[in-house]
Amino acid sequence: MIRLHNMCSLLLIAMATMLMASVHAAEVMILPSGQTVFVTLYRDNILRLKVQPTAGDFYRVTDVVVADKEAADKLKVSCATATSCLVEAAKASMTVTGHDLDSDTAHLIVEYRTGGVVSTISKVPVAPQFKDAPELTTTFPTAKKLFGLPQHAMDLALKEDVTYQLYNLDVFHYKLDDPGGIYGSIPFLMAHSSQHTTGVLFLNSAEMNVRILKSQEEANGAPGAHWKAEVGIVDVFFLGGANPSQVHEMHAYITGKAYLPPMFSLGYHQCRWNYRSTDDCLDVDAGFDQHNIPYDVLWLDIEHTDGKKYFTWDLHNFPEPTKLINSIAAKGRKMVTIKDPHIKRENGYHVHDEATSKGFYVKTESGSDYEGHCWPGTSSWIDFHNKDARDWYATLFKHDRYGGSTPDLYTWIDMNEPSVFNSHQVTMDRNAVHRSASGKQVKHRYLHNMYGYLHTMAAFQGHLLSSAGAAAVKRPFILTRSFFSGSQRYSAMWTGDNMAKWDHLEKSLPMLLSLSLANYPFVGADCGGFFFNPEAELMVRWIQAGIFYPFFRAHAHLETKRREPWLFGEDSTSRIRAAIAIRYSMLPYLYTTFFQTHALGTTVIRPLFYEFPAEENLFSEQNTYMFGPSLLVSPIVREGEAFHMVRFPSGAFWYDWFTGKKMESGTDTNIAVTMDTIPIYTRGGSIIPTKQRLRRSSAAMVHDPLTLYVSLDERGNSYGELYTDDEDTYNFESGAFLHRALSFSAGRLTCRAAPTAYTPKDRTKTFQSDVYVERVVIFGLSKEPRRIAATSANVGGNAADGVATATELTWSKVHDAIVVRQPKTQIAADWDIVIEF
Ligand code: NOJ
Repeated sequence: MIRLHNMCSLLLIAMATMLMASVHAAEVMILPSGQTVFVTLYRDNILRLKVQPTAGDFYRVTDVVVADKEAADKLKVSCATATSCLVEAAKASMTVTGHDLDSDTAHLIVEYRTGGVVSTISKVPVAPQFKDAPELTTTFPTAKKLFGLPQHAMDLALKEDVTYQLYNLDVFHYKLDDPGGIYGSIPFLMAHSSQHTTGVLFLNSAEMNVRILKSQEEANGAPGAHWKAEVGIVDVFFLGGANPSQVHEMHAYITGKAYLPPMFSLGYHQCRWNYRSTDDCLDVDAGFDQHNIPYDVLWLDIEHTDGKKYFTWDLHNFPEPTKLINSIAAKGRKMVTIKDPHIKRENGYHVHDEATSKGFYVKTESGSDYEGHCWPGTSSWIDFHNKDARDWYATLFKHDRYGGSTPDLYTWIDMNEPSVFNSHQVTMDRNAVHRSASGKQVKHRYLHNMYGYLHTMAAFQGHLLSSAGAAAVKRPFILTRSFFSGSQRYSAMWTGDNMAKWDHLEKSLPMLLSLSLANYPFVGADCGGFFFNPEAELMVRWIQAGIFYPFFRAHAHLETKRREPWLFGEDSTSRIRAAIAIRYSMLPYLYTTFFQTHALGTTVIRPLFYEFPAEENLFSEQNTYMFGPSLLVSPIVREGEAFHMVRFPSGAFWYDWFTGKKMESGTDTNIAVTMDTIPIYTRGGSIIPTKQRLRRSSAAMVHDPLTLYVSLDERGNSYGELYTDDEDTYNFESGAFLHRALSFSAGRLTCRAAPTAYTPKDRTKTFQSDVYVERVVIFGLSKEPRRIAATSANVGGNAADGVATATELTWSKVHDAIVVRQPKTQIAADWDIVIEF
């Protein structure tokens, strides 16, 4: 039976966070077992397959992450028999064929096609009696390698015959190369070949185990995976595209694009468990100024509270928290406090009293509050699944509720797998009971992997609420340890409790790249390593690598030695300063990249194959990677390296960041390195905006002039963008931003409005900028210039004077670069810089 199906009923349970999506859904067949097979189309070629009981009660996690906004009839369904149907859309199709549907081996074969190619073949067991234990096998006839399924401390490319567990756990001293689950999960896999890329997202928040098949023996030579979730339904998205970035954008369309973080959160974060008192904090803060090292955020771990009661302060050590935050904020910096999801069961503690009386704790099967042990001792856990509980939790962030907080205080949420010290696998009992606002109950096992995500939603909402009523609502900053599909809309994440060991530094790169491929762009690892004490070389190398983590924070365990950047000797201090200064110089480029991520659904760091999908020898590369679209970096992550191998894709020209020296494309090049070496290369064809004046925080750089790095491609062209706004609020959503396109061709560098794919909600605001260009560095010019001049409506002056002038510019050759001085062209204006040869 074929019926076009309206998804309105799903709308009723859709939550506030859903996407605007044009959706087309068809009920393809009803199985003898009473299950319904649905195929849904998103955009032109994203197909979603759901196999779910036609009637009865079952848990649909996906409605919290994705929602159907609109139903329409865009799918053509034709069935040769009652159990073999072809579902066609403009750019994709799916064949669903039932086999042995009355027997124990009942299954569907589902073939997903894009671009005329069968890119995924899935076998979906559909037992005659509905079993609440969904599984499927997917093979990828066109693919060479599989990636994804974070988070694991493993290599980037998935390994055959290994079962990757997706189960959010607080694993003490987690091991490298272990496929067991750690803090967060994204059930997404990318299958890639030089011609084609496919993504599969099995949206289910129960424990999931994914075994990568032995391709030769089990999948006719093609890569494949067997997915099995503990409970729930089959709900799978197939995303097919020509390359990884297309698939990435499709993924971001489904589970959401990353939010645009405030600028300060892209600076350097200084954390330790714990800064112990107001004086300690002020000393550390002053230390950065004394040593001329920029930083943006000072963090307070659990010891800052009164007895691990979150939203309180240890008033003995932090007697006047507001004063402390204000004095840090006076330098343009911020603070963060930790707020874990376990709540101390202590009468008189307002959070506990209110959660108890409102019934907002997770329950046991018998209906009492679920209890366990965590930092505060006996604790209970807020039921973030319940929207009413989330709304209430959000109120805890209001400044009149959270004494000592100010708008300059942000949030770290930890232990939200959730970690329960005295329970099996150090996590919540799978039979614990959550509720929804309507009172419906669901066992923890169904949503375990989503608990941290739900916590993040509530904390994000809390920050918005605490900012409501301000002249402009500020963008939240939240760091979470546990995450799931969708967390990128609310928070940054970090990879938890790593160790001060070289192999942990090395493994941080594939870990972060894997997360980035799975649509989690704002990711980092503890610089220096959480457990144990790094020696100076490791600390320096970790900071030199950390400047290319999208989220850049140093952190350390309670029992480690102090390790602020100036405690490793003078040479190390100056190396750390130099590295952090590079990070700060790149903030305009990084912020623009984050904006593109938010506007387009791209990512920040990318494996080489993401940018150079046809270069098969680079598919598994995980040490050299792209920091945004235009910079190739290759952090030194091995002890005592005298030579370091950098891999240069053949698909572009590459120039040394510091000298402009042209590197040899398509080679693996061993470069000689010292402790000062940071391997960074610009991509020919790019223009990278930077700010080069060393300041104490990102806020102090707002009005600083720009240096543009122009790197020419084989035709002598290049292009880049600069996005800028107030760096802090949502005014950009009303048009208060500048988005500029910089391009170079035939000796002419121009600045114009960028063709933007971003449409603000309204255009009621504008953004003014006094930022001008103080330097242009050009790599790859084949001839020396004879004359360089700038033409602009406002050269050398303020944008308002509107006088068109042509100004002769001075320039010099520095190493292999031409450096043009003080064009003073305003970034808000249209201008040209013309080189004559
Ligand atoms: C565990 C976190 O992973 C770590 O970063 C933190 O310092 C401790 N909890 C204490 O809050």
